[in-house]
Amino acid sequence: MVPTLPLLLLCQLALYTAVASKKDCGRPLLGDGMDGKALHMVYSPGDKVVLSCNNGYTPTGNPRTIVCSASGVWTPSKLKCLAKSCSFPQNPDHGEMVFEDITYQSTINFTCHDGYTIQGASTIECLANGEWSEPPPKCLPLHCGMPPIPAHGRIVYDGLYYGNTIVFGSGVTYECRPPFVLVGRERGTCSYNGEWTEPPKCKLVTCPPPTNITNGYMTSDVIWELGYKDTVRYGCNLHYVLDGPVEIECLKTGTWSNKPVCRAPCSIELTETHYIRNTHLTDKTPHNGIINVHCINKNAKCRYAVQSQCIDGEAHIPECLKETNDFVKTFNSTYQLEITIC
Ligand SMILES: *[C@@H]1O[C@H](CO)[C@@H](O)[C@H](O)[C@H]1NC(C)=O
Ligand SMILES: *[C@@H]1O[C@H](CO)[C@@H](O)[C@H](O)[C@H]1NC(C)=O
Ligand SMILES: *[C@@H]1O[C@H](CO)[C@@H](O)[C@H](O)[C@H]1NC(C)=O
Repeated sequence: MVPTLPLLLLCQLALYTAVASKKDCGRPLLGDGMDGKALHMVYSPGDKVVLSCNNGYTPTGNPRTIVCSASGVWTPSKLKCLAKSCSFPQNPDHGEMVFEDITYQSTINFTCHDGYTIQGASTIECLANGEWSEPPPKCLPLHCGMPPIPAHGRIVYDGLYYGNTIVFGSGVTYECRPPFVLVGRERGTCSYNGEWTEPPKCKLVTCPPPTNITNGYMTSDVIWELGYKDTVRYGCNLHYVLDGPVEIECLKTGTWSNKPVCRAPCSIELTETHYIRNTHLTDKTPHNGIINVHCINKNAKCRYAVQSQCIDGEAHIPECLKETNDFVKTFNSTYQLEITIC
């Protein structure tokens, strides 16, 4: 038994020298997506390796088995690993998606438009099995609660609402009950963050006690302050005519609208010598009233019509009536009627 050991050693030595004369292969070069986890750094001639693809890649092409040749070079492989594709994603309504690719490990980012809120994952990834990690999200409209009602005010809704939420972009109009006046924005909207825009305030507005008008009166004698939209009426004394609005109103600014004035009548001191038609000599002609007079043409012994208008107590007296008219003086008014028209 003793001599066998040296012989075995000898045999091993011979084998070693035979291997050393050949070249080893290095780790095979791998293409995209190929699985290199089980590979060694060094292979001996004659060693075989079956190349495969990583998870998420689909293998195509043969041969896939490579052999380390005696010259230390791997035989060629035609294996290609193609990244798996996920289905083409669906753009959510009212949203956007951003992606560069839809292959394995690609991601898609989703965002929703203003007024919409995302329901689901905002980022999804294409998995090794060719499925997306999660279904695409939905963009749901944002809702606001009911808007706050300002004290002394009310709200007019643009449309009909059921329940107690109002959808983004909807609007309301605020109103204040007089004598309160709206301060701020009249329109309110449910904004993109689900909040209402700043509601206005209702401010009390009063006007100082209204004042009398000359030659006129107020229908009620008001000595206290009145509020926005309150009204007061005016009238004029006998023979005076109201010029302007009968009623004034307390404005948003806390002042009254323009008051009317009372226009004076005309009392013309015409003597009997003047021929006056339509108007009794002692009458007061009201403001804006027309005074019809006839002047006498003393040479032709006839009369002709002249008009004058009363403007706030003043009437223009026609020239013919101003001059001394001896002819006319000889007639009294009854007689004058018999004078013919020129
Ligand atoms: C998705 O969003 C993340 C974080 O903002 C960003 O790093 C990534 O590049 C985005 N992906 C795409 C495809 O735009
Ligand atoms: C207005 O006139 C009336 C009558 O002329 C008078 O009694 C009243 O005191 C006046 N009021 C004011 C506020 O001046
Ligand atoms: C007017 O004059 C006529 C004639 O001159 C005369 O008859 C008449 O009585 C007079 N009338 C008046 C009211 O003076």
